[in-house]
Amino acid sequence: MPNNLREIQYSSGDLVADRRASYAAALATERAFAEAADLMTQTLEMVPQWVAGWNLLGGYREAAGDIAGAVVAWTQLLQLDGKGLFGAALKLAAHGAGGSAEAAPAYVEALFDDYAPRFEDALVGRLGYRTPEALETMIRAVMVTRGIGRFGRVLDLGCGTGLMGGRLRPLVERLEGVDLSARMLGEARRKGIYDRLEKDDLKAVLDQEQASIDLIVAADVLNYVGALEAPLASAGRALRRGGIVAFSLETHGGSEPVRLGTSLRFQHAVEPTLEICRTAGLEVISAEPVVIRMDRGLPVDGMIVLTERV
Ligand SMILES: C[S@@+](CC[C@H](N)C(=O)[O-])C[C@H]1O[C@@H](n2cnc3c(N)ncnc32)[C@H](O)[C@@H]1O
Repeated sequence: MPNNLREIQYSSGDLVADRRASYAAALATERAFAEAADLMTQTLEMVPQWVAGWNLLGGYREAAGDIAGAVVAWTQLLQLDGKGLFGAALKLAAHGAGGSAEAAPAYVEALFDDYAPRFEDALVGRLGYRTPEALETMIRAVMVTRGIGRFGRVLDLGCGTGLMGGRLRPLVERLEGVDLSARMLGEARRKGIYDRLEKDDLKAVLDQEQASIDLIVAADVLNYVGALEAPLASAGRALRRGGIVAFSLETHGGSEPVRLGTSLRFQHAVEPTLEICRTAGLEVISAEPVVIRMDRGLPVDGMIVLTERV
């Protein structure tokens, strides 16, 4: 089991408190969030050091519309959760209550370690996730216009369980995947489609390469990364001249380059992002609006960008 999952204590260590917490969870399932929050508040009086409990309380209060109360819970969570596995800093920042609107790798790793076994059913089955398909279509179009038979060395950033990799495999000679989450990588490994899989931050892997990669793909990943200057500069350096970077983003209509949503995912503005690409030596081939997926019943606006190393 990955370290993070062991450290996320879903049990408080006290049977009575656990039972109360499970009643609170049942109330939340019935959408009785205020009642769930009340019960969780009482529970935490018994086990005030239970980190995951403060996370649950913050979530129930947020869902009940009690943002001030949620901020109190997340502030406590921030103090108790030394490794940042629960993303308290992001949660506070997303509600304009301090915190930090910076990428949070420990939180992302824990989130996807937890999500891995049900990721594909949830995302593809229930949330209408079609980003790998959209990226594949655009990559194939570029292959036709540039007369590329197959790409040589290809990096799938934030490869997850390999949904994008499965689409890339027939188009490439060598497929390498990198991801922060060991459990997502475990699912990808089972598919047997990657020549190499590495558990690391995508920027660290890009920084090991110098003009050696032919295609870099990031499907539904940069929305967990935040500021794009550094990773896109690294991607530009990692690519051979004429190499391609293809990625999806969630977008917003404002002017600031990046914004943190209450989903705790980052959204990027179109023009500033394209400018960051150019600064990184990446000429924009295409930038097409897409619906990335559904979230809480609403379409998530996004963009598929293809760029070329000049
Ligand atoms: C929504 S999933 C997408 C997975 C896959 N690309 C797909 O399309 O199905 C996002 C993945 O990106 C990974 N991720 C997020 N930030 C990362 C980073 N900085 N470095 C490496 N992987 C990252 C997560 O662990 C997760 O597996």
